[in-house]
Amino acid sequence: MFRFIFAASFLLPDNDEEIHNMVKIGIFYGGSQKGSTYKAAESMVNHFGKDKTALHNVNEATREDLEKYDYLILGTSAWGIGEMHQDWERFIDVLVEASIDQKKIALFGLGDQIEYPESFVDGMGTVFCRLPFKENVVGFWPTKGYSFYFSTAEKDGNFVGLALDEDSQPELTGERIAKWVAQLKAEFKLN
Ligand SMILES: Cc1cc2nc3c(=O)[nH]c(=O)nc-3n(C[C@H](O)[C@H](O)[C@H](O)COP(=O)(O)O)c2cc1C
Repeated sequence: MFRFIFAASFLLPDNDEEIHNMVKIGIFYGGSQKGSTYKAAESMVNHFGKDKTALHNVNEATREDLEKYDYLILGTSAWGIGEMHQDWERFIDVLVEASIDQKKIALFGLGDQIEYPESFVDGMGTVFCRLPFKENVVGFWPTKGYSFYFSTAEKDGNFVGLALDEDSQPELTGERIAKWVAQLKAEFKLN
């Protein structure tokens, strides 16, 4: 028995760096304290698996955090009239300066299509707009099933990432996240 445990211990990661190297996806979210954006991000971690995914609040995240993953998922809610969450106002400059040109990137945005139909999920639109390497973006999502007049996050008939509406379509959030994560696993080539 002792010999088995001793042998098996060689198969396990034995330091933080090795454990970290298994985590390939960084989810960076900015939204209200423990709000809808955070909850969506947490649900994505569960779908991908905690061993593969790490969660970062953009309020505390650094350039080094962005640079250590192969895949980045960036989420913001929309505030003001069509603005990113305020925590993203600082972090967007960090993102633009970071060396992330080799990474696949996916976006998600929270919004409210009933109260803000002319700026629906515009925070996500701004993050996309500021990304220097748009060709690396995956995870585009159909606009079918939403009702709004205008969104800066719409491009060629799709959203530039997953649009979630916890205010007027909360019943669809779980299903949308599950489907989008399955899509990302294929686009990230994780299957
Ligand atoms: C003051 C205020 C402004 C908002 N502006 C927008 C907006 O322009 N577009 C939009 O789609 N949603 C807007 N929303 C809705 C939020 O994005 C939505 O409630 C979101 O789920 C909040 O997520 P959070 O709690 O993680 O920050 C706004 C909400 C508030 C309270």
